[in-house]
Amino acid sequence: MAFNQVKVEAELFQAQSHLYKHVFNFLSSMCLKSALQLNIPDIIHGHGRPITLPELLSTLQMDPAKSSYLYRLMRILVHSGFCTTSKVPKGDGEEEGYNLTPSSRLLLKGNIPSLSTFVQAMFHPAIVHSSESLGDWFISDEPTPFHTAHGMGFWDYLSQNQEFNRLFNEALISDSSMMNLVIKDCKSVFEGFDSLVDVGGGKGAASRIISESLPNLWCTVLDFPHVVENLQDSRNLKFVGGDMFHSIPTADAILLKLVLHAYSDEDCVKVLKKCREAIACKGKGGKVIIIDIVIEKKDEGDLKDAKLFFDVLMMAVVAGREREEKEWEKLFLEAGFSHYKITPILGVRSLIEVYP
Ligand SMILES: C[S@@+](CC[C@H](N)C(=O)[O-])C[C@H]1O[C@@H](n2cnc3c(N)ncnc32)[C@H](O)[C@@H]1O
Repeated sequence: MAFNQVKVEAELFQAQSHLYKHVFNFLSSMCLKSALQLNIPDIIHGHGRPITLPELLSTLQMDPAKSSYLYRLMRILVHSGFCTTSKVPKGDGEEEGYNLTPSSRLLLKGNIPSLSTFVQAMFHPAIVHSSESLGDWFISDEPTPFHTAHGMGFWDYLSQNQEFNRLFNEALISDSSMMNLVIKDCKSVFEGFDSLVDVGGGKGAASRIISESLPNLWCTVLDFPHVVENLQDSRNLKFVGGDMFHSIPTADAILLKLVLHAYSDEDCVKVLKKCREAIACKGKGGKVIIIDIVIEKKDEGDLKDAKLFFDVLMMAVVAGREREEKEWEKLFLEAGFSHYKITPILGVRSLIEVYP
């Protein structure tokens, strides 16, 4: 066979593998979902040493006939970096046992931080169906794929669906459990103020950590009434039900964590203008602290994948988007702010300080 012909065929087969890998990416997600459903990370953790396949099978009280299927599930979890294997003694010989990795340790339910509920919520049919509706939505007049899938917007769906509302709020509490790392690393960002309003602060997980870490800071969480109802105020933390598009309580500083990425540019400018009015009492000394994704040219590997997947999630679920620095800058200038500083220290998310 001519050299050129061999090269063309090699490229074709490489393209086939690349295509199949992306077609079947959802199976990687489904294996992760099964592992979480079966509680495999907690079982491995609770075992205290690498767990062998028979030990895992017996802890799961699974039919021994499922052993080879479980082996195949574990093989893909090893391949995708959620487990490793190491040798454990067995009789005179050795056997293979499974260990957790840093990523699967994040799925341990009782741990802090734990992203287990966040991951569970992302697999909820409400989210999965809206991403399946992307194609239909592109050729429809619906505002978002979520509308195409569910006949209403995401926030309305949450207010009408108690089970999903509870899971979504718990998911964000689980995501905020990484917040204590931020506070530890950048406590100074929140220092020097008497008051802070956490706009769209959900159940207050982030604010709770901030208010406990800075006892002289008066924190207010503003969120929809159905989100903050029945939440108990504490000494320096209170909850207020409302709509950030209508009114934001005055404060020295505003926190917007994972809020602006859920809204269009036009809506973000409206919210940012309200925030600027809310911190006006502090003159030039106030600031808005944003925790959200900044897509950067230099991003690569898992970080780039995660940021771009979050962007598609925002497109599928709400009319939001993840933004590059120049897109953030445009919003800040349009809302009347003068300068900003981005600190990319939070893995997928960055911390952005925006000044009047
Ligand atoms: C992705 S969640 C982030 C929650 C929290 N900041 C965190 O990081 O855990 C977005 C939050 O914004 C709230 N939100 C959205 N639109 C809002 C509005 N117009 N007024 C008040 N809160 C709003 C939602 O209810 C939700 O709790």
